[in-house]
Amino acid sequence: MYKDLKKGISVVEVGCGAAIPTKTLATRYPQCKLLATDICADNLERAKTTCQGLENVELRVMDACNASSDLNEKFDLAMMFDVYHDVPYPDKLIAGIHRILKPGGMLLMNDIGAHESITANKEENAAMFGMYYTISSLYCMPTSYKYPDGAGIGACGGMELYERKLKDVFTDVRKVAKDIGLFFLCTK
Ligand SMILES: C[S@@+](CC[C@H](N)C(=O)[O-])C[C@H]1O[C@@H](n2cnc3c(N)ncnc32)[C@H](O)[C@@H]1O
Repeated sequence: MYKDLKKGISVVEVGCGAAIPTKTLATRYPQCKLLATDICADNLERAKTTCQGLENVELRVMDACNASSDLNEKFDLAMMFDVYHDVPYPDKLIAGIHRILKPGGMLLMNDIGAHESITANKEENAAMFGMYYTISSLYCMPTSYKYPDGAGIGACGGMELYERKLKDVFTDVRKVAKDIGLFFLCTK
């Protein structure tokens, strides 16, 4: 992957917020072409400030569940950090990202490394996961329940759930790093 990044590949960041990862990659690997996307125009304004002056970065307001067809099979790499548990339709989100990746393309995704089981979270780190459940009930659950049929996953949806869902769609799914969050590297 480092070799490919040096040569120059096409990268999309989904739910970029302020787009710090896009800026980091764009600066370190100037041959790469990056598209930073977010469903929220205000967040993309933050991304605009972050990526100011970077000629290899494009910005686009986009719902990754319904990316326009000009992006089909366009990207070698998709990055998505801390987004999955917030969205009402996570299956559509993953299918949407899969569609815009080239065959053999990869998704690097992270989300909070909680378990599906409240008991397991309590045993592992009651204070930390207690904080996540609290924050989640104020932001993540309401956003994921935005529509009556929303998934309502929330910050402690659980790594086991994410892994199962990714494996439903991607050919290969690996857990590549874990701190507070867990990183999955998935191949189309
Ligand atoms: C918790 S923030 C994470 C932002 C950024 N990735 C970070 O790590 O700081 C989740 C982001 O996902 C965006 N988002 C939610 N649903 C989305 C969708 N369907 N398509 C694209 N972006 C979405 C939100 O607007 C928000 O910016």
